[in-house]
Amino acid sequence: MEELNQNYQPKTLPSIPTFSADMEGKSHEEEGQIVTPWQVTGDKSGKIDYDKLIDKFGCQRVDQSLVDRVARVTGRPAHVFLRRGIFFSHRDFDEVLDLYERGEKFYLYTGRGPSSEALHLGHLVPFMFNKYLQDAFKVPLLIQLTDDEKCMWKNLSVEESKRLARENAKDIIACGFDVSKTFIFSDFDYVGGSFYKNMVKIGKCVTYNKVLGIFGFNGEDHIGKVSFPPVQAAPSFPSSFPHLFSAKDNFRSLIACAIDQDPYFRMTRDVAPRIGCRKPALLESSFFPALQGETGKMSASDPNSAIYVTDSAKDIKNKVNRYAFSGGQDSIENHRKFGANLEVDIPIKYLGFFLDDDAELEHIRTEYGAGRMLTGEVKQRLIEVLTEIVENHRSARAAVTDEMVDAFMAVRPLPNMFS
Ligand code: TYM
Repeated sequence: MEELNQNYQPKTLPSIPTFSADMEGKSHEEEGQIVTPWQVTGDKSGKIDYDKLIDKFGCQRVDQSLVDRVARVTGRPAHVFLRRGIFFSHRDFDEVLDLYERGEKFYLYTGRGPSSEALHLGHLVPFMFNKYLQDAFKVPLLIQLTDDEKCMWKNLSVEESKRLARENAKDIIACGFDVSKTFIFSDFDYVGGSFYKNMVKIGKCVTYNKVLGIFGFNGEDHIGKVSFPPVQAAPSFPSSFPHLFSAKDNFRSLIACAIDQDPYFRMTRDVAPRIGCRKPALLESSFFPALQGETGKMSASDPNSAIYVTDSAKDIKNKVNRYAFSGGQDSIENHRKFGANLEVDIPIKYLGFFLDDDAELEHIRTEYGAGRMLTGEVKQRLIEVLTEIVENHRSARAAVTDEMVDAFMAVRPLPNMFS
Protein backbone atom coordinates (compact mmCIF):
# COMPACT_ATOMS: atom_id res chain seq x y z
CA MET A 1 0.00 0.00 0.00
CA GLU A 2 1.61 3.18 -1.12
CA GLU A 3 -0.23 5.48 1.20
CA LEU A 4 -2.12 4.57 4.30
CA ASN A 5 -5.11 6.69 3.77
CA GLN A 6 -8.39 5.59 5.05
CA ASN A 7 -10.21 8.30 3.13
CA TYR A 8 -7.94 8.08 0.15
CA GLN A 9 -9.35 8.39 -3.33
CA PRO A 10 -6.67 7.03 -5.64
CA LYS A 11 -5.80 9.13 -8.65
CA THR A 12 -5.29 6.14 -10.88
CA LEU A 13 -8.46 4.16 -10.17
CA PRO A 14 -11.32 6.54 -10.97
CA SER A 15 -14.04 4.37 -9.56
CA ILE A 16 -13.65 1.20 -7.61
CA PRO A 17 -16.73 -0.96 -7.21
CA THR A 18 -17.53 -1.41 -3.53
CA PHE A 19 -17.47 -5.18 -3.67
CA SER A 20 -14.87 -7.82 -3.71
CA ALA A 21 -14.93 -11.46 -4.67
CA ASP A 22 -13.29 -13.90 -2.31
CA MET A 23 -12.09 -16.56 -4.70
CA GLU A 24 -11.82 -19.10 -1.93
CA GLY A 25 -15.38 -18.52 -0.82
CA LYS A 26 -18.30 -16.31 -1.62
CA SER A 27 -18.70 -12.83 -3.01
CA HIS A 28 -19.42 -10.05 -0.55
CA GLU A 29 -21.31 -6.80 -0.91
CA GLU A 30 -19.35 -4.23 1.04
CA GLU A 31 -20.65 -1.16 2.75
CA GLY A 32 -18.01 1.52 3.01
CA GLN A 33 -14.80 -0.21 4.04
CA ILE A 34 -12.43 -0.87 1.14
CA VAL A 35 -8.99 -2.49 1.45
CA THR A 36 -7.07 -3.17 -1.77
CA PRO A 37 -3.34 -2.84 -2.52
CA TRP A 38 -4.04 0.72 -3.77
CA GLN A 39 -6.80 1.96 -1.55
CA VAL A 40 -7.55 1.71 2.14
CA THR A 41 -10.82 3.33 3.14
CA GLY A 42 -12.39 2.86 6.55
CA ASP A 43 -16.04 2.35 7.41
CA LYS A 44 -18.46 5.20 8.25
CA SER A 45 -16.43 6.06 11.36
CA GLY A 46 -13.29 6.20 9.21
CA LYS A 47 -11.68 3.24 10.99
CA ILE A 48 -10.79 -0.14 9.58
CA ASP A 49 -12.82 -2.93 11.15
CA TYR A 50 -10.25 -5.73 11.12
CA ASP A 51 -12.71 -8.37 12.37
CA LYS A 52 -14.95 -7.64 9.41
CA LEU A 53 -11.95 -7.84 7.11
CA ILE A 54 -11.09 -11.34 8.36
CA ASP A 55 -14.66 -12.44 7.63
CA LYS A 56 -14.80 -10.71 4.29
CA PHE A 57 -11.45 -12.01 3.03
CA GLY A 58 -11.96 -15.45 4.59
CA CYS A 59 -8.71 -15.37 6.61
CA GLN A 60 -8.09 -16.95 10.01
CA ARG A 61 -7.42 -15.03 13.22
CA VAL A 62 -3.99 -15.34 14.88
CA ASP A 63 -4.94 -16.49 18.38
CA GLN A 64 -2.94 -16.89 21.56
CA SER A 65 -2.43 -20.63 21.05
CA LEU A 66 -0.80 -19.94 17.66
CA VAL A 67 1.47 -17.29 19.21
CA ASP A 68 2.46 -19.71 22.00
CA ARG A 69 3.11 -22.40 19.44
CA VAL A 70 5.49 -20.15 17.48
CA ALA A 71 7.48 -19.50 20.65
CA ARG A 72 7.59 -23.24 21.44
CA VAL A 73 8.55 -24.34 17.93
CA THR A 74 11.27 -21.72 17.45
CA GLY A 75 12.59 -21.82 21.02
CA ARG A 76 12.52 -18.03 21.30
CA PRO A 77 9.92 -15.49 22.43
CA ALA A 78 7.37 -14.61 19.75
CA HIS A 79 8.05 -11.21 18.14
CA VAL A 80 6.20 -8.23 19.67
CA PHE A 81 4.24 -7.88 16.43
CA LEU A 82 2.83 -11.37 17.08
CA ARG A 83 2.48 -11.03 20.86
CA ARG A 84 0.56 -7.76 20.51
CA GLY A 85 -1.78 -8.90 17.75
CA ILE A 86 -0.28 -6.61 15.08
CA PHE A 87 0.05 -9.62 12.77
CA PHE A 88 -3.55 -10.54 13.49
CA SER A 89 -4.59 -12.60 10.48
CA HIS A 90 -3.24 -15.68 8.71
CA ARG A 91 -3.89 -18.25 6.05
CA ASP A 92 -2.60 -21.76 6.76
CA PHE A 93 0.23 -20.57 9.02
CA ASP A 94 -0.67 -23.50 11.31
CA GLU A 95 0.05 -25.86 8.40
CA VAL A 96 3.46 -24.25 7.91
CA LEU A 97 4.20 -24.90 11.58
CA ASP A 98 3.04 -28.53 11.16
CA LEU A 99 5.39 -29.11 8.28
CA TYR A 100 8.24 -27.28 9.99
CA GLU A 101 7.83 -29.56 13.02
CA ARG A 102 8.03 -32.56 10.69
CA GLY A 103 11.37 -31.22 9.45
CA GLU A 104 10.06 -30.01 6.07
CA LYS A 105 11.37 -26.79 4.57
CA PHE A 106 9.57 -23.63 3.50
CA TYR A 107 10.66 -20.20 2.31
CA LEU A 108 9.62 -16.59 3.00
CA TYR A 109 8.45 -14.20 0.30
CA THR A 110 7.65 -10.50 0.65
CA GLY A 111 8.03 -7.30 -1.37
CA ARG A 112 8.01 -3.57 -1.89
CA GLY A 113 6.62 -1.36 -4.63
CA PRO A 114 9.36 1.25 -5.08
CA SER A 115 7.44 4.46 -5.65
CA SER A 116 9.30 6.86 -3.38
CA GLU A 117 12.80 7.58 -2.20
CA ALA A 118 12.12 7.20 1.50
CA LEU A 119 10.19 4.52 3.35
CA HIS A 120 7.89 5.45 6.23
CA LEU A 121 7.82 3.47 9.47
CA GLY A 122 4.79 1.46 8.29
CA HIS A 123 6.88 0.08 5.41
CA LEU A 124 9.49 -1.15 7.88
CA VAL A 125 6.96 -3.28 9.78
CA PRO A 126 6.89 -6.27 7.37
CA PHE A 127 10.65 -6.14 6.85
CA MET A 128 11.41 -6.14 10.59
CA PHE A 129 9.01 -9.03 10.97
CA ASN A 130 10.51 -11.00 8.07
CA LYS A 131 13.95 -10.52 9.60
CA TYR A 132 12.66 -12.12 12.80
CA LEU A 133 10.99 -14.97 10.85
CA GLN A 134 14.14 -15.60 8.86
CA ASP A 135 16.28 -15.79 12.01
CA ALA A 136 13.76 -17.80 14.04
CA PHE A 137 12.99 -20.44 11.38
CA LYS A 138 16.35 -20.35 9.55
CA VAL A 139 14.80 -20.08 6.11
CA PRO A 140 15.51 -18.14 2.91
CA LEU A 141 13.71 -14.88 2.15
CA LEU A 142 12.85 -13.68 -1.36
CA ILE A 143 12.04 -9.98 -1.75
CA GLN A 144 10.30 -8.74 -4.87
CA LEU A 145 10.72 -5.10 -5.92
CA THR A 146 7.76 -4.39 -8.17
CA ASP A 147 9.35 -1.56 -10.15
CA ASP A 148 7.08 -2.54 -13.06
CA GLU A 149 3.96 -2.08 -10.87
CA LYS A 150 4.99 1.40 -9.75
CA CYS A 151 6.03 2.40 -13.27
CA MET A 152 2.43 1.69 -14.31
CA TRP A 153 0.51 2.93 -11.27
CA LYS A 154 2.58 6.00 -10.49
CA ASN A 155 3.37 6.85 -14.08
CA LEU A 156 7.12 6.77 -13.42
CA SER A 157 9.61 6.15 -16.22
CA VAL A 158 11.20 2.69 -16.38
CA GLU A 159 14.56 4.20 -15.47
CA GLU A 160 13.18 6.10 -12.46
CA SER A 161 11.35 3.01 -11.18
CA LYS A 162 14.54 0.97 -11.46
CA ARG A 163 16.51 3.66 -9.65
CA LEU A 164 13.96 3.76 -6.81
CA ALA A 165 14.07 -0.03 -6.59
CA ARG A 166 17.81 0.08 -5.87
CA GLU A 167 17.37 2.94 -3.39
CA ASN A 168 14.63 1.02 -1.57
CA ALA A 169 16.78 -2.13 -1.64
CA LYS A 170 19.32 -0.22 0.48
CA ASP A 171 16.66 0.49 3.11
CA ILE A 172 15.60 -3.14 3.06
CA ILE A 173 19.17 -4.41 3.41
CA ALA A 174 19.61 -1.96 6.32
CA CYS A 175 16.99 -4.00 8.23
CA GLY A 176 19.78 -6.54 8.76
CA PHE A 177 19.09 -9.37 6.32
CA ASP A 178 21.67 -12.10 5.80
CA VAL A 179 23.03 -12.02 2.22
CA SER A 180 23.64 -15.78 2.32
CA LYS A 181 19.89 -16.41 2.77
CA THR A 182 18.23 -13.45 1.02
CA PHE A 183 17.53 -12.81 -2.66
CA ILE A 184 16.21 -9.36 -3.64
CA PHE A 185 15.02 -9.00 -7.21
CA SER A 186 13.62 -6.27 -9.43
CA ASP A 187 10.85 -7.35 -11.81
CA PHE A 188 12.40 -5.43 -14.69
CA ASP A 189 15.63 -7.37 -14.26
CA TYR A 190 14.45 -10.80 -13.16
CA VAL A 191 11.13 -11.61 -14.88
CA GLY A 192 11.64 -14.18 -17.64
CA GLY A 193 12.38 -17.89 -17.97
CA SER A 194 10.69 -20.09 -15.35
CA PHE A 195 9.20 -17.06 -13.58
CA TYR A 196 7.48 -15.99 -16.78
CA LYS A 197 6.23 -19.52 -17.45
CA ASN A 198 4.50 -19.44 -14.05
CA MET A 199 3.03 -16.01 -14.81
CA VAL A 200 1.48 -17.38 -17.99
CA LYS A 201 0.12 -20.47 -16.20
CA ILE A 202 -1.41 -18.24 -13.51
CA GLY A 203 -2.83 -15.78 -16.03
CA LYS A 204 -4.62 -18.60 -17.89
CA CYS A 205 -6.55 -19.49 -14.71
CA VAL A 206 -7.93 -16.02 -13.91
CA THR A 207 -10.79 -14.61 -15.94
CA TYR A 208 -11.23 -10.91 -16.64
CA ASN A 209 -14.37 -10.91 -14.48
CA LYS A 210 -12.46 -12.40 -11.57
CA VAL A 211 -9.67 -9.85 -11.75
CA LEU A 212 -12.26 -7.05 -11.83
CA GLY A 213 -13.98 -8.53 -8.79
CA ILE A 214 -10.82 -8.97 -6.75
CA PHE A 215 -8.96 -5.77 -7.60
CA GLY A 216 -11.73 -3.41 -8.66
CA PHE A 217 -10.27 -2.55 -12.07
CA ASN A 218 -12.63 -1.00 -14.58
CA GLY A 219 -12.77 -0.31 -18.28
CA GLU A 220 -10.71 2.86 -17.94
CA ASP A 221 -7.71 1.00 -16.51
CA HIS A 222 -4.99 0.12 -18.99
CA ILE A 223 -4.26 -3.52 -19.67
CA GLY A 224 -0.84 -3.22 -18.01
CA LYS A 225 -2.62 -3.05 -14.66
CA VAL A 226 -5.07 -5.81 -15.45
CA SER A 227 -2.24 -8.16 -16.43
CA PHE A 228 0.00 -7.31 -13.47
CA PRO A 229 -1.36 -9.62 -10.69
CA PRO A 230 0.41 -12.79 -11.99
CA VAL A 231 3.74 -10.94 -11.55
CA GLN A 232 3.16 -10.61 -7.80
CA ALA A 233 1.70 -14.13 -7.62
CA ALA A 234 4.59 -15.98 -9.32
CA PRO A 235 7.15 -15.69 -6.44
CA SER A 236 4.75 -17.73 -4.28
CA PHE A 237 5.94 -20.80 -6.20
CA PRO A 238 9.49 -22.20 -5.84
CA SER A 239 9.67 -23.13 -9.53
CA SER A 240 9.94 -19.39 -10.29
CA PHE A 241 13.46 -19.54 -8.80
CA PRO A 242 15.39 -22.37 -10.51
CA HIS A 243 18.71 -20.95 -9.26
CA LEU A 244 17.50 -21.58 -5.69
CA PHE A 245 15.23 -24.59 -5.79
CA SER A 246 15.26 -27.80 -7.82
CA ALA A 247 12.18 -29.07 -9.66
CA LYS A 248 11.43 -31.58 -6.89
CA ASP A 249 11.53 -28.90 -4.17
CA ASN A 250 7.80 -28.28 -3.97
CA PHE A 251 8.28 -26.02 -0.94
CA ARG A 252 5.53 -23.90 0.52
CA SER A 253 6.00 -20.16 0.72
CA LEU A 254 5.03 -18.02 3.70
CA ILE A 255 4.23 -14.38 2.93
CA ALA A 256 4.28 -11.79 5.74
CA CYS A 257 2.87 -8.36 4.83
CA ALA A 258 0.05 -5.97 5.71
CA ILE A 259 -3.47 -7.11 4.85
CA ASP A 260 -3.71 -4.68 1.90
CA GLN A 261 -1.81 -7.23 -0.21
CA ASP A 262 -4.31 -10.03 0.51
CA PRO A 263 -6.17 -9.68 -2.84
CA TYR A 264 -3.05 -10.80 -4.75
CA PHE A 265 -2.72 -13.89 -2.63
CA ARG A 266 -6.42 -14.81 -2.58
CA MET A 267 -6.03 -15.00 -6.32
CA THR A 268 -2.76 -16.96 -6.04
CA ARG A 269 -4.20 -19.47 -3.57
CA ASP A 270 -7.19 -20.05 -5.82
CA VAL A 271 -4.95 -20.77 -8.79
CA ALA A 272 -2.24 -22.82 -7.03
CA PRO A 273 -3.83 -26.30 -7.01
CA ARG A 274 -4.98 -25.85 -10.61
CA ILE A 275 -1.37 -25.51 -11.78
CA GLY A 276 -0.02 -28.26 -9.51
CA CYS A 277 1.44 -25.89 -6.90
CA ARG A 278 0.98 -25.56 -3.15
CA LYS A 279 -0.94 -22.57 -1.82
CA PRO A 280 1.18 -19.83 -0.24
CA ALA A 281 0.54 -19.32 3.47
CA LEU A 282 0.18 -15.81 4.88
CA LEU A 283 0.69 -13.78 8.03
CA GLU A 284 -0.96 -10.38 7.71
CA SER A 285 -0.68 -7.24 9.82
CA SER A 286 -2.92 -4.30 10.56
CA PHE A 287 -1.75 -0.87 9.39
CA PHE A 288 0.68 1.35 11.22
CA PRO A 289 -1.51 4.47 11.42
CA ALA A 290 -0.99 8.06 10.31
CA LEU A 291 0.17 10.59 12.93
CA GLN A 292 -3.19 12.34 12.68
CA GLY A 293 -5.01 9.22 13.87
CA GLU A 294 -6.41 5.96 12.59
CA THR A 295 -8.82 7.81 10.35
CA GLY A 296 -6.08 10.05 9.00
CA LYS A 297 -3.96 9.92 5.91
CA MET A 298 -0.36 8.74 5.77
CA SER A 299 0.85 9.82 2.38
CA ALA A 300 3.93 10.82 0.50
CA SER A 301 2.24 14.10 -0.45
CA ASP A 302 1.89 15.10 3.23
CA PRO A 303 5.27 14.70 4.97
CA ASN A 304 3.67 15.56 8.32
CA SER A 305 1.41 12.52 8.19
CA ALA A 306 4.16 9.99 8.84
CA ILE A 307 7.64 9.45 10.25
CA TYR A 308 10.10 8.65 7.47
CA VAL A 309 13.37 6.78 7.84
CA THR A 310 15.08 9.94 6.56
CA ASP A 311 13.64 12.18 9.32
CA SER A 312 16.11 13.89 11.66
CA ALA A 313 15.76 13.75 15.46
CA LYS A 314 14.39 17.29 15.24
CA ASP A 315 11.79 16.32 12.62
CA ILE A 316 10.64 13.41 14.77
CA LYS A 317 10.32 15.60 17.85
CA ASN A 318 8.36 18.22 15.91
CA LYS A 319 6.06 15.76 14.18
CA VAL A 320 5.23 13.83 17.35
CA ASN A 321 4.68 16.94 19.45
CA ARG A 322 2.66 18.83 16.84
CA TYR A 323 0.78 16.17 14.90
CA ALA A 324 0.47 12.90 16.86
CA PHE A 325 -3.22 12.67 17.72
CA SER A 326 -3.70 12.56 21.47
CA GLY A 327 -6.38 10.75 23.42
CA GLY A 328 -5.58 12.98 26.41
CA GLN A 329 -8.23 15.34 27.83
CA ASP A 330 -8.44 19.05 26.98
CA SER A 331 -7.30 20.26 30.41
CA ILE A 332 -4.98 18.86 33.04
CA GLU A 333 -7.86 18.76 35.55
CA ASN A 334 -10.03 16.72 33.20
CA HIS A 335 -7.11 14.52 32.28
CA ARG A 336 -6.36 13.73 35.92
CA LYS A 337 -10.07 13.05 36.43
CA PHE A 338 -10.96 11.00 33.33
CA GLY A 339 -7.61 9.75 32.00
CA ALA A 340 -6.62 9.37 28.34
CA ASN A 341 -8.68 7.55 25.72
CA LEU A 342 -6.14 4.92 24.69
CA GLU A 343 -8.36 3.68 21.86
CA VAL A 344 -7.64 6.76 19.75
CA ASP A 345 -4.26 7.82 21.12
CA ILE A 346 -1.53 7.67 18.46
CA PRO A 347 1.50 7.79 20.82
CA ILE A 348 0.14 4.67 22.57
CA LYS A 349 -0.50 2.96 19.23
CA TYR A 350 3.01 3.76 17.98
CA LEU A 351 4.56 2.53 21.26
CA GLY A 352 2.53 -0.67 20.80
CA PHE A 353 4.47 -1.29 17.58
CA PHE A 354 7.92 -0.14 18.62
CA LEU A 355 8.42 -0.22 22.41
CA ASP A 356 9.82 -3.70 23.02
CA ASP A 357 9.48 -3.79 26.79
CA ASP A 358 6.07 -5.30 27.61
CA ALA A 359 6.20 -4.23 31.27
CA GLU A 360 7.02 -0.62 30.43
CA LEU A 361 4.26 -0.47 27.82
CA GLU A 362 1.75 -1.84 30.30
CA HIS A 363 2.91 0.67 32.92
CA ILE A 364 2.46 3.59 30.49
CA ARG A 365 -0.96 2.34 29.41
CA THR A 366 -2.14 2.04 33.02
CA GLU A 367 -0.75 5.37 34.20
CA TYR A 368 -1.82 7.32 31.11
CA GLY A 369 -5.26 5.67 31.01
CA ALA A 370 -5.77 6.64 34.66
CA GLY A 371 -4.68 10.25 34.07
CA ARG A 372 -1.57 10.02 36.23
CA MET A 373 0.68 10.38 33.19
CA LEU A 374 0.26 13.33 30.80
CA THR A 375 0.33 13.30 26.98
CA GLY A 376 3.59 15.26 26.97
CA GLU A 377 5.32 12.54 28.99
CA VAL A 378 4.07 9.76 26.72
CA LYS A 379 5.08 11.72 23.63
CA GLN A 380 8.54 12.27 25.12
CA ARG A 381 9.02 8.51 25.52
CA LEU A 382 7.74 7.93 21.98
CA ILE A 383 10.21 10.50 20.61
CA GLU A 384 13.07 8.62 22.31
CA VAL A 385 11.92 5.26 20.94
CA LEU A 386 11.38 6.47 17.36
CA THR A 387 14.58 8.51 17.29
CA GLU A 388 16.59 5.45 18.27
CA ILE A 389 14.95 3.29 15.58
CA VAL A 390 15.35 5.90 12.84
CA GLU A 391 18.94 6.76 13.79
CA ASN A 392 19.95 3.10 13.90
CA HIS A 393 18.29 2.60 10.54
CA ARG A 394 20.03 5.63 9.06
CA SER A 395 23.49 4.52 10.12
CA ALA A 396 22.82 0.94 8.92
CA ARG A 397 21.66 2.33 5.56
CA ALA A 398 24.70 4.59 5.24
CA ALA A 399 26.85 1.46 5.48
CA VAL A 400 25.05 -0.24 2.55
CA THR A 401 27.22 0.06 -0.55
CA ASP A 402 26.34 -0.45 -4.23
CA GLU A 403 28.39 -3.64 -4.14
CA MET A 404 26.20 -4.94 -1.32
CA VAL A 405 23.06 -4.18 -3.34
CA ASP A 406 24.60 -6.05 -6.31
CA ALA A 407 25.39 -8.99 -4.02
CA PHE A 408 21.82 -9.25 -2.68
CA MET A 409 20.36 -8.88 -6.18
CA ALA A 410 22.69 -11.29 -7.97
CA VAL A 411 20.93 -14.35 -9.44
CA ARG A 412 22.86 -16.99 -7.54
CA PRO A 413 22.40 -20.08 -5.39
CA LEU A 414 22.12 -19.52 -1.62
CA PRO A 415 24.05 -22.50 -0.27
CA ASN A 416 23.33 -21.84 3.43
CA MET A 417 19.76 -20.78 3.05
CA PHE A 418 18.34 -23.37 5.45
CA SER A 419 20.98 -23.16 8.16
P1 TYM B 1 4.19 -1.41 -0.75
O1 TYM B 1 5.45 -0.85 -1.26
O2 TYM B 1 2.94 -0.60 -0.88
O3 TYM B 1 4.36 -1.80 0.76
C1 TYM B 1 5.47 -2.56 1.18
C2 TYM B 1 5.06 -3.43 2.35
O4 TYM B 1 4.66 -2.59 3.44
C3 TYM B 1 3.36 -2.93 3.89
N1 TYM B 1 2.76 -1.69 4.36
C4 TYM B 1 2.43 -1.45 5.65
N2 TYM B 1 2.53 -2.23 6.73
C5 TYM B 1 2.08 -1.73 7.92
N3 TYM B 1 1.57 -0.48 8.05
C6 TYM B 1 1.46 0.34 6.98
N4 TYM B 1 0.96 1.55 7.13
C7 TYM B 1 1.90 -0.14 5.69
N5 TYM B 1 1.95 0.37 4.44
C8 TYM B 1 2.48 -0.58 3.65
C9 TYM B 1 2.69 -3.57 2.67
O5 TYM B 1 1.66 -4.46 3.03
C10 TYM B 1 3.87 -4.33 2.06
O6 TYM B 1 4.06 -5.57 2.73
N6 TYM B 1 2.76 -4.59 -4.43
C11 TYM B 1 3.55 -4.48 -3.21
C12 TYM B 1 4.96 -5.03 -3.33
C13 TYM B 1 5.01 -6.54 -3.23
C14 TYM B 1 4.69 -7.32 -2.09
C15 TYM B 1 4.89 -8.67 -2.47
C16 TYM B 1 4.26 -6.96 -0.81
C17 TYM B 1 5.40 -7.41 -4.22
N7 TYM B 1 5.33 -8.69 -3.77
C18 TYM B 1 4.66 -9.70 -1.55
C19 TYM B 1 4.02 -8.00 0.09
C20 TYM B 1 4.22 -9.35 -0.29
C21 TYM B 1 3.62 -3.01 -2.76
O7 TYM B 1 3.48 -2.11 -3.55
O8 TYM B 1 3.95 -2.85 -1.41
